[in-house]
Amino acid sequence: MNNKLSTINPQPSTVLIGITGGIAAYKICELIRMFKRHGANVYVVCTPNALNFVTCLTLRSLSGNEVAVEQFEIEEFKPEHISCAERADVMVIAPCSANTLSKLAQGICDNLLTSVACAFSKPVIIAPAMNCNMWENKIIQENAARLERAGYEILPPDEGFLACGYSGKGRLCKLEKIFDRVQSTLSLRERAGVRGLLKIVITAGGTVENIDPVRYISNHSSGKMGAALAKAARRMGAQVVLIDAAEHSALELQKAVKAEAADADCIIMAAAVADYRPKEAAAQKIKKDLSPRPLWEREETLSEPNGELSVSGEGSLTLELIPNPDILQELCKNKREGQIIVGFCAESENLLENAKEKIKRKGCDFLVANDISRKDIGFGADENEVYILDKNLNAAKLDKAPKAVIAAKILEAIYGG
Ligand code: CTP
Repeated sequence: MNNKLSTINPQPSTVLIGITGGIAAYKICELIRMFKRHGANVYVVCTPNALNFVTCLTLRSLSGNEVAVEQFEIEEFKPEHISCAERADVMVIAPCSANTLSKLAQGICDNLLTSVACAFSKPVIIAPAMNCNMWENKIIQENAARLERAGYEILPPDEGFLACGYSGKGRLCKLEKIFDRVQSTLSLRERAGVRGLLKIVITAGGTVENIDPVRYISNHSSGKMGAALAKAARRMGAQVVLIDAAEHSALELQKAVKAEAADADCIIMAAAVADYRPKEAAAQKIKKDLSPRPLWEREETLSEPNGELSVSGEGSLTLELIPNPDILQELCKNKREGQIIVGFCAESENLLENAKEKIKRKGCDFLVANDISRKDIGFGADENEVYILDKNLNAAKLDKAPKAVIAAKILEAIYGG
């Protein structure tokens, strides 16, 4: 943990902390002190139940600001939940009870905290804490996943002894973890802010090459890494254009990317683009050849294994493939001053060796190298472990983590250097 909150930001950052009714609420007093020690402004918004665990006076004394609890205590002209939401750079909800988590997931705004969170257009980091059985409950898990899909960041609870007497996953995660997430979120936004509003174009998933109206050629790319990057880039405050490769052939993707490239500050080609396409996609469904022809009319070669006559190639269909353009290489060739271009590569062997050759050949600023020989990471998995290479062939390993974390780290590597 370092002093980035005050040193990176020329203006002190403003952190809005939402506290709900849970025993871990007392720990947030220390979290407020951590933010204050690092130079941040802190505002606190509580659910009425939170005040059963910690007093308004404590929170006000530590934060140095009035604590907002009731929806209709409007001091300024603007409704309180809107002015709170406008003031802060990031919102942290900790501890977040099962009740508040579920309300947020459904867009229910029945108190000041849920209304503020709903109106908050900047990053929201949620640290749930509850009984372990409540956390494992399918409905709570689905609500947490729904929030993640909507762009909220969830810091899952830790395992250990719980105040309710149970032992399991439910404890508020470590305060340092919350602090570090806030810090990295703020520093990413700050870097983006220094360069003005960034436009980041991201491609995700695998392209689709039609063979006929029924069949196509594609690959195993799920698009999860690209989607995680889009979320992380949005959190950083960038204007994001996410292009889903699964809706495009390579040629169509090339056109779509070109249309967005001119004013893009950064282009991330996470898509798996087909290197070849059928020379011609058939207009009608290709039918099986059902008419057996006499041997003497067939073009296939005749061979005589074991002394018997046999036909090789009978019933086979040959598809002629022609190369697709290399979109990434073309983008790099035409890149404008200051534009950052990031490629991905999927390798089943010699990961770093192939990645180094590829970054040189394509000419991109960064290349993220995936090992697709492992089932637990890469294609389709929720986690990833990658190397990120820069132009000088320096490679940094990003240890196995959820794709959301890897995505944030990739952006940190791009904008941190
Ligand atoms: N890429 C591209 N256009 C292509 C092929 C790939 O823009 N026709 C991009 C991908 O989006 C990715 C990077 O190039 O960012 C590397 O893709 P990869 O398939 O690993 O590289 P290839 O050049 O296709 O090399 P190979 O398949 O031979 O390993």
